Amino acid sequence: MRVQVCIIGGGPSGLLLSQLLHLQGIDTIVLERASRDHVLSRIRAGVLEHGFAELMREAQCGERMDREGEIHHGFNIAHDGVLDRIDLYKYSGGNSVLVYGQTEVTRDLYEARDRLGGKVVHNAADVQPHDIASGQPFVTYRSGDQTIRIDCDYIIGADGFHGVSRKSIPKDKLSEYERVYPFGWLGVLSRTKPINPELIYVKHERGFALCSMRSQVLSRYYIQVPLSDKVEDWSDDAFWDELKRRLPPHVATELITGPSIEKSIAPLRSYVAEPMRYGRLFLAGDAAHIFPPTGARGLNSAASDIYYLYHGLVDHYKKSDDKGLDDYSQRALARIWKAQRFSWWMTMLLHRFPDRIAYEDRLQDTDMAYLFSSEAAQRSLAENYVGLPF
Ligand code: APR
Ligand code: PHB
Repeated sequence: MRVQVCIIGGGPSGLLLSQLLHLQGIDTIVLERASRDHVLSRIRAGVLEHGFAELMREAQCGERMDREGEIHHGFNIAHDGVLDRIDLYKYSGGNSVLVYGQTEVTRDLYEARDRLGGKVVHNAADVQPHDIASGQPFVTYRSGDQTIRIDCDYIIGADGFHGVSRKSIPKDKLSEYERVYPFGWLGVLSRTKPINPELIYVKHERGFALCSMRSQVLSRYYIQVPLSDKVEDWSDDAFWDELKRRLPPHVATELITGPSIEKSIAPLRSYVAEPMRYGRLFLAGDAAHIFPPTGARGLNSAASDIYYLYHGLVDHYKKSDDKGLDDYSQRALARIWKAQRFSWWMTMLLHRFPDRIAYEDRLQDTDMAYLFSSEAAQRSLAENYVGLPF
């Protein structure tokens, strides 16, 4: 089989790009290792930037997001027993974020691909890019005992952090930058009314916590835990008790608890691979970079990669102009690094770091005091949280 663009990975990055290209008459195929049910069972962050939402609308996938997603004009930070608010709307020049689960984003993208009859292959085993440094790249995968070959002009590696794409770039051509944080987030999803209409990020001496939501009847909460903890160590009651301890008392009394319908521990990592292109292979999303969840940058940063790639590919096919593709890595990385800086900063501001010297704890307290004493600092936070321009 031959297509113009072969996309490895059917997560939000791969699906969104295939949908956008399809609407421009560019032929794609998506090769996904897992089943659709498996992809849709993964629970991830739920805060969408304006730029990402716009891209979903352009992809004709924004209808349910606009109907069910909640516009948030601000969020809160609990610290030192008080609840302070960041006014996103005021400090970002009228911008906001949309609270809508990433799983729902992926579901909407799959449905849109179905509607257009997009080629999406699930359970594609042993996906392998070939001849990526040549002008005639191709991809093979296994379906049962058959090996299938897809010839293409370009390969998009949108197969997440553990995918095959990044690994097929020669090691000496890739620089990797990484920071692993010494804790994880224990997350609980519960069918309960959220504690507060807006998100609450919590800095507490017992550790970070986050009160988030998927809707007015579905809450998502997190607490910082040591990496050695296991999900089995945490009963629902133990989770709720610990969360309450980290909230200011007047907020904790508002918490409605219930049985967890999902509970998992995620490690926190910052990671960037450079460059994001090698020959005919372009990396996008988690395949090239990982963000700690603290500022909800993961999906939103994948969106800017997709935006640059989409325009680069459209310019290539429609105007024979390769500038967008040639500049892709540099443009994408410029924005990625700013998002890395922001998510690192928010992570450092809000977590408790074991084994840290007292001097650093005082600096962290001062960072928080400065934030709520300075409109400039709040403006900077708001500008980054709603998303820097593409
Ligand atoms: N072959 C084919 N598909 C693969 C392979 C492979 N070798 N390896 C991984 N995949 C698939 C995974 O099963 C997954 O469905 O690639 C997909 C990658 O999806 P994600 O990990 O969701 O990455 P991405 O689409 O870039 O999404 C952006 O934003 O909030 C963050 O991490 C969060 O997933 C989110 C990301
Ligand atoms: C979530 O709702 O899962 C969520 C929200 C904001 C974050 C991280 C996760 O910063």
